[in-house]
Amino acid sequence: MHTEKLRLDQAPPLAVPVSFFLAAPVSVAIAGVLLLLDGSALLTSAWVPGTIALVHLGTLGFLSCIMLGALYQMIPVIAGTPVPRARLAFGALALLLLGTGSLVAGLFLGWPLLVQLARGALLLALLLFLLPVGFALSRSHSAKETTWGMRLAALCLVLVGGAGLLMAAGHAGGAFPGPRGPWIQAHMGLGLLGWVGGLITAVSWQVVPMFYLTRPVPTLARRAVLGMLAFGALGPPIALSLGASATVATLIAAPAAIAAWLLHPVLIWRAISTRTRKRADPSLRAWQAGLLVGPVVALVALLSQVSASPRLGILLVWLAVWGWAGVIIHGMLTRIVPFLVWYHRWSPLVGKQRVPSMRSLLPQGVARTGLGLHLLSVIVGAAAVLTGWDPLARLTGATLVLTAVALATELILTVRPR
Ligand code: HEM
Repeated sequence: MHTEKLRLDQAPPLAVPVSFFLAAPVSVAIAGVLLLLDGSALLTSAWVPGTIALVHLGTLGFLSCIMLGALYQMIPVIAGTPVPRARLAFGALALLLLGTGSLVAGLFLGWPLLVQLARGALLLALLLFLLPVGFALSRSHSAKETTWGMRLAALCLVLVGGAGLLMAAGHAGGAFPGPRGPWIQAHMGLGLLGWVGGLITAVSWQVVPMFYLTRPVPTLARRAVLGMLAFGALGPPIALSLGASATVATLIAAPAAIAAWLLHPVLIWRAISTRTRKRADPSLRAWQAGLLVGPVVALVALLSQVSASPRLGILLVWLAVWGWAGVIIHGMLTRIVPFLVWYHRWSPLVGKQRVPSMRSLLPQGVARTGLGLHLLSVIVGAAAVLTGWDPLARLTGATLVLTAVALATELILTVRPR
């Protein structure tokens, strides 16, 4: 494993990233229970508050929760500047969970007061996270594409969070900030392409060569992906605020969609095919599965522009959140958490006593089962959205609960004291 250029000595306490990772499966389980209770009613229209609640269990409760934990870990190690007051992270996590929980409950039950509570908690969570993280990122002299990707992701988090908090006022007894369509369009692009796409691509430049001993992706290609993501995520809100039409904003967003769901999959797939160690562990299979979902997301995004069917919009969000980003992030956890636990707990003991191998910290069969269940839930969920068949939606709920239990088991087995 190539770890030479990393400042692992600056990493925060293990409990910081791990607390975020351990909290994430709870949202997946709640999403599963909601689908078991309400079935296909949650998968028919993007305007239904219950659907928006479900989406945010995925985007805030699962993806963002893991991504915040990962950023606390990666900024000191890769960008080379420690995040000040790392222990504030526990406050940010508690507020993120309170905010996501009350947003979901408030939307699902139609209680404006809970949505109002969510706005306050999420605003504080974002401030508590972004102020120290933004400080560390702005002080870093690193010019690596990974550091720039993290900066782009953090900026997009400010904007997607800000837009989300303003829009949530419309569900908290107040007014919606403007015409709903353009606001959601800008919010989705900033969230899925800038925040999630920015971080996944940035991290991939670092972790894929490091864990799978592949050749690095050429610098020019990395810069092209970063530039296209920045243009396509930040351009639409600017254009829409200047009065551009939804069609123009969509055209401006296209380079980011191409970078995240077509170009990046091709680049990483090619890099993986050059790896020197041919053994494929479950995390590598997850990378491959997530990369294969990328072009399907791009196709659905295109179809959703030419078809009036609301199902395609839901399918796009389902595949992007749970299929593409969700599978890649789940797979990365099965590789990164054993690495972190081994580094923090066992590497100081090397040469002094017998230490377990990194691989033995998470039995591969458990990781394979978790990722298999995750992929099953993606497929059943896509079928449920497309057919609108209620039993399939409830079955999706069951597979989500099973995936959450499996992911929690993977994490607990890896981090438990030995
Ligand atoms: C502070 C954080 C956030 C808040 C308060 C928030 C709030 C909202 C609200 C209120 C809506 C619905 C607007 C309407 O009534 O039509 C919405 C839609 C949406 N948001 Fe967020 N959001 C947040 C963060 C995010 C993030 C980080 C992502 C993606 C990574 C995201 C993805 C989406 C998507 C995809 C939709 C469309 C929902 C649908 O298709 O049903 N949001 N958000």
